[in-house]
Amino acid sequence: MKIAIFASGNGSNAENIIRYFRARAAEGIEVALVVCNRPGAMVISRASALGVPVATVSAADLRSPDTILPLLDGYGIGAIILAGFLQIVPSFITARYAGRILNIHPSLLPRFGGKGMYGRHVHEAVVASGASETGITVHHVTERYDEGAIVFQTSIPVSPEDTPGTVEARIHELERIHFPRVIAETLRRLPDNL
Ligand code: GRF
Repeated sequence: MKIAIFASGNGSNAENIIRYFRARAAEGIEVALVVCNRPGAMVISRASALGVPVATVSAADLRSPDTILPLLDGYGIGAIILAGFLQIVPSFITARYAGRILNIHPSLLPRFGGKGMYGRHVHEAVVASGASETGITVHHVTERYDEGAIVFQTSIPVSPEDTPGTVEARIHELERIHFPRVIAETLRRLPDNL
């Protein structure tokens, strides 16, 4: 199955997913395209360095079925992975790729989710709340932020000494360990093509 990663920023998850599936040809999954909505984002150079094609799309491109669907079809994309993608996915994409779009969120949804809750903002809110644990959530994507069915969660303890930075570092490590494997296990159950 060929998959596209949608990302907006740093791209450490994107790079990790690309490397994971390259090293495991038997999984039958290939990252064939990275779609980025922010020109200059670090994910673009990470993907390019690994030889993965990158398409930079504007907000208008993303909302245009005549632009985005032929792009995905051109690469034979059968599933989409959101990894730090900060724009809402339009419903014509969520409908066409129903059950084939996964997102990772750096908290235990439904806590600390929703609009504006991304990256460091999430970890700041977790620490400010005094929560004793946090974690990651992999979930199906709908046209609303952070609301699709949950596929996987795992947690870590948060101590009073933690800062948003220490939490973020441990969350990134959890993402590195689990996200590619959860993608593989979820997509394995689906036919390769739409
Ligand atoms: C990750 O923490 C992910 O959970 C969240 O945004 C962050 C992206 O980091 N959705 P990166 O761009 O993969 O480094």
